[in-house]
Amino acid sequence: MSEPIVLGIESTCDETAAAIVQGRTLISNVVASSMNEHARYGGVIPEIASRAHAEAFVPCVSKALADANMTIADVDAIAVSAGPGLAGCLAVGVSGAKALAWAANKPIYGINHVIGHIAVTQLQFGPFPPDTLALIVSGGHTSLLHVEDVARRIDVVGTTLDDAAGECFDKVARLLGFPYPGGPHIDRHAQNGDPKAIRVPQGLTQGKAGAAHPYDFSFSGVKTAVARWIEEQQAAGREIPVDDVCASLADSVATVLAKKAMRGCEQYDSKTLIVGGGFSANSQLRAKLLEYGERCGVDVRIPQIKLCTDNGAMVAMLGVNLVEAGVAPSAPDFPIDSAMPMDQISM
Ligand code: KG4
Ligand code: ZN
Repeated sequence: MSEPIVLGIESTCDETAAAIVQGRTLISNVVASSMNEHARYGGVIPEIASRAHAEAFVPCVSKALADANMTIADVDAIAVSAGPGLAGCLAVGVSGAKALAWAANKPIYGINHVIGHIAVTQLQFGPFPPDTLALIVSGGHTSLLHVEDVARRIDVVGTTLDDAAGECFDKVARLLGFPYPGGPHIDRHAQNGDPKAIRVPQGLTQGKAGAAHPYDFSFSGVKTAVARWIEEQQAAGREIPVDDVCASLADSVATVLAKKAMRGCEQYDSKTLIVGGGFSANSQLRAKLLEYGERCGVDVRIPQIKLCTDNGAMVAMLGVNLVEAGVAPSAPDFPIDSAMPMDQISM
């Protein structure tokens, strides 16, 4: 098989998505989001998201096939996110994908959504160099991974000890009164602010804790420091300089991520840094990573925005990697795993 064709299906959180990838080429890509239905609750409501998946599954998959000018008979395999994510949401996508695979007699791969976020960069930048480093920054995960072989072996080099960067942004955003998800609002306001206006700590970078955790992250202290500063200003009756708060927070988080990622590249002798996850849409992080990469001689591969947030192309791309590597498909009764560990690539 020269260029496997894989249908990828995604339903971990609030996006129902389906896409077709052939080799390293994105043939079709359909995303339906239930984000607007959650905004007034300040966060994703699992039951609302699950129902939205149940409604959007067939239309999304049908459109992905139609846009590719294909029927299900034309695909070599189906890949679906089996975790990590919201259990009810995963159950809808995985059940639908299994039914489709059974009816069409196709192999199916239950894949790790987080690994999909890094696999997707191949659509833009081509295959991974061997032994590369990857920075995952999604809503729920902030981790440095050593990718020996994306289809077979990934190890966790460092991870967040508390909040993910995305969570930290979303929580500060709530304090500032931005609707869910707050990350993009902080990004936008940060563009007009002074990144040095407020002193924001850089978690686990200094002293003993920094030395003991060279590749781990901590963002809960950052969140608390910013929250306390905002409360103090409010108590003193002062107006909150929103743009400056956002810029200072974004600068601190982006700097820690870039510093630690570069240190990891040096340690693992990697000349490439793969970046993935919803938070990699953040403009301050993108700029900082490119700046540090240039300085350290590391080729930083950040996907275009539409491939950073959840989509089916990332799932299909990892499916292609598994087919190409000759990895056995998942058993027909494979389970979902809402806490799927990051070193598990498929079920
Ligand atoms: O990967 P993702 O789509 O969902 C998970 O799999 O977790 O990531 C969503 C996260 C949210 O926390 C959202 O606020 C954040 O990515 N995000 C951003 C930006 N765009 C999305 N955070 C900061 N700046 C952005 N431009
Ligand atoms: Zn994601």
